[in-house]
Amino acid sequence: MAKPIKWGIIGLGKIADKFATDLVKVTHTQLHAVASSSIERAKDFAQKFGAPYHYDSYEDIFKTPELDVVYIATPHSSHAEYSILCLKNKMPVLCEKPFAMNLKQVEKMVEAARENDTFLMEAMWTRFLPVIQKTQELIEEDRIGKIKTIHADFGFVAPFTPERRTLNPALGGGALLDIGIYPAYLSLLLLGYPTDIHAMSTFGKTGVDETTSIVFKYPQATALLNATFGSRTRTEALIYGEKGYIHLPERFHESKTVTLYETDKDPLTFTFERETRGYNFEIEEVNNCLRNNKKESVKMPLSMSVKLMSLLDEIRQKAGIRYEGIDS
Ligand SMILES: NC(=O)c1ccc[n+]([C@@H]2O[C@H](COP(=O)([O-])OP(=O)(O)OC[C@H]3O[C@@H](n4cnc5c(N)ncnc54)[C@H](OP(=O)(O)O)[C@@H]3O)[C@@H](O)[C@H]2O)c1
Repeated sequence: MAKPIKWGIIGLGKIADKFATDLVKVTHTQLHAVASSSIERAKDFAQKFGAPYHYDSYEDIFKTPELDVVYIATPHSSHAEYSILCLKNKMPVLCEKPFAMNLKQVEKMVEAARENDTFLMEAMWTRFLPVIQKTQELIEEDRIGKIKTIHADFGFVAPFTPERRTLNPALGGGALLDIGIYPAYLSLLLLGYPTDIHAMSTFGKTGVDETTSIVFKYPQATALLNATFGSRTRTEALIYGEKGYIHLPERFHESKTVTLYETDKDPLTFTFERETRGYNFEIEEVNNCLRNNKKESVKMPLSMSVKLMSLLDEIRQKAGIRYEGIDS
């Protein structure tokens, strides 16, 4: 029987709860330790998910015996700091998206992973969903021909809570880094790094980007991408080729279905039911990497995180999205 992989979590907010709900459903996987700024939250969270160790300081998590890996679920602004802290303690890391605030920080994280010979991966969970694998297969099988255009969007109405991370510039708030990363990543995955980037943003009361619209140019294709906190958009992805198109329906980044529309043929829908939100797939990837002593994932390698952050930096520069202390 496979040895259980024992996970720790740093930062017990909304995503930590969803992630832990999926984690405890993965076979041979245990939530072993949690760390929070609040001892009550740590205790309640540990009790809810059956974790034997809990702490009111992030650093204390390294005292845990037999801990295999730490998942970082704090706001973007502290991803680099806590990832590097874990890596210096030789603790493998799965860190939430966006990996950090800019490329400089990502490069330091990669350096720390290499210097300490320790596993590091960005929690780009969409990469591991069966629908995304299916989409790639359909493209590789030439079912839609060469991709000509990608349309992808992500939008919801963010409640006006200026202190919370979504709208708070000090915590890396704004639509691009929070949700625009998904359409940008899809385009990067399917078409590679664009040759030209155009981007524009509108800004809300707290100064973060409320809407960011992006055009990527490739030698023979374009991508039209949008992210907004101002309205609930369809949050779908359409990949148009010469011979048809592929549709990832609403909330494409966590979709259970994908439909292929080949010219002059009936549409074909592929469904991948699951009883989780979908975080189990990235958890299984990390488990497999650790079991096989891999220092990074082949599917979401550090080079991909470097490209993704370069892309986000370039979009920010074109759209005028700036963070104090990060860009100055
Ligand atoms: N993959 C996904 O589907 C997905 C979905 C949502 C969010 N995310 C990512 O996950 C990260 C966290 O998002 P979230 O929605 O879970 O945020 P959240 O609800 O605000 O929780 C973040 C937690 O981080 C800790 N923290 C540490 N420093 C903090 C600070 N200065 N201000 C506020 N909290 C701080 C707090 O936990 P303690 O008090 O317990 O220490 C807090 O509860 C973000 O980077 C986001 O992009 C990913």
